[in-house]
Amino acid sequence: MAAEPVNLNEFQELARLALPKMYYDFYAGGAEDEHTLKENVEAFHRITFRSRILVDVSRIDLSTTILDYKISAPIIIAPTALHKLANPEGEVATARAAASCNTIMVLSFTSSSSIEEVAASSNAVRFYQLYVFKKRDITATLVQRAERNGFKALVLTADTPRLGRREADIKNKMITPPLKNLEGLLSTKVSSDTGSNFEADANETMDASLSWKDLEWLRSITNLPILIKGILTREDGKIKAPSDDMTIKAVEVGVAGIIVSNHGARQLDYSPATISALEEVVHAVKGRVPILMDGGVRRGTDVFKALALGAQAVLIGRPVVYGLAAKGEYGVRRVIEMLKDEFELTMALTGCPSVKHITRKHVRTEQERIH
Ligand code: FNR
Repeated sequence: MAAEPVNLNEFQELARLALPKMYYDFYAGGAEDEHTLKENVEAFHRITFRSRILVDVSRIDLSTTILDYKISAPIIIAPTALHKLANPEGEVATARAAASCNTIMVLSFTSSSSIEEVAASSNAVRFYQLYVFKKRDITATLVQRAERNGFKALVLTADTPRLGRREADIKNKMITPPLKNLEGLLSTKVSSDTGSNFEADANETMDASLSWKDLEWLRSITNLPILIKGILTREDGKIKAPSDDMTIKAVEVGVAGIIVSNHGARQLDYSPATISALEEVVHAVKGRVPILMDGGVRRGTDVFKALALGAQAVLIGRPVVYGLAAKGEYGVRRVIEMLKDEFELTMALTGCPSVKHITRKHVRTEQERIH
């Protein structure tokens, strides 16, 4: 393979060569049979284009606006854990790459660089991803730190009452370093005799009782907009709680956006590919709040397909970590730039001079081909 990768998939191979097996497996792996892991990518392959011809595409505008922040393309960095396992500069390098590509970085709750280090490292627009711990005051402290350090929104990951069963980590007895942001706040004990300490720690600390009503609690401790990550059904897209009144209430308590996600296929295997679940949620939400999606985005054509099916932007997880592992900050920048270049070409070849021109009619799903 050429030393300089020409697409995102080639970065994965470089990352595999650069990383100890335990860490590569941690990044690359999914839950159980990894059925959803494969589907996240393959479901994109089953969608084809309906291109228009003879449209003036001599100038293409990829830019878009997410929660009032103008970014260079609808491609955002997803929250992924522990970037220092990929590169000693960790999330600081990722944030710098986000800034130079003029996009948003969502910093993971389980980051290896601190909130303060990441904030000081660049002027990237940053969102902060949250897990809610049994000890609520720990989550509240981190929310306040994110707010104080200029993070612009919270992303509540709602698909992780317990950690999914990642068998590679169990086999490798994956040991994770202590989390920088939790220093002095939490002492987790390593119990890796039977599996990964990541799983054991997460299951011990995560609040599995978290429910819709807790959004009000979250809203009460912050002024930041809150996005919910991990929605896969129309029922949850409607933010449906026990009654219809609650539906409106949930929006009122601060949901600023939805991220259709199956956690990169790391939680429940045999969840649908996110690109297959996207439209169901889009129809239910009816434009009340912006919808983003992640899972399996590896090509500019994938970005286009997600937008055509109703997403305002996509997030990318693994490719960012692979870029970081292979070539540090430069690698992350290249991953985003390559995806942007491919997306721009897709727009040109489908006849879409700006993201507003991308419509449902520019793609054909598998069901539409059969009928
Ligand atoms: C994740 N993801 C994740 N999500 C989250 O909300 N908090 C987290 O700390 C993490 N950590 C994490 C670590 C690793 C190694 C991976 C691969 C993923 C899920 C992530 O935000 C996103 O949903 C997926 O990564 C998107 O799928 P792709 O782009 O990796 O296919």
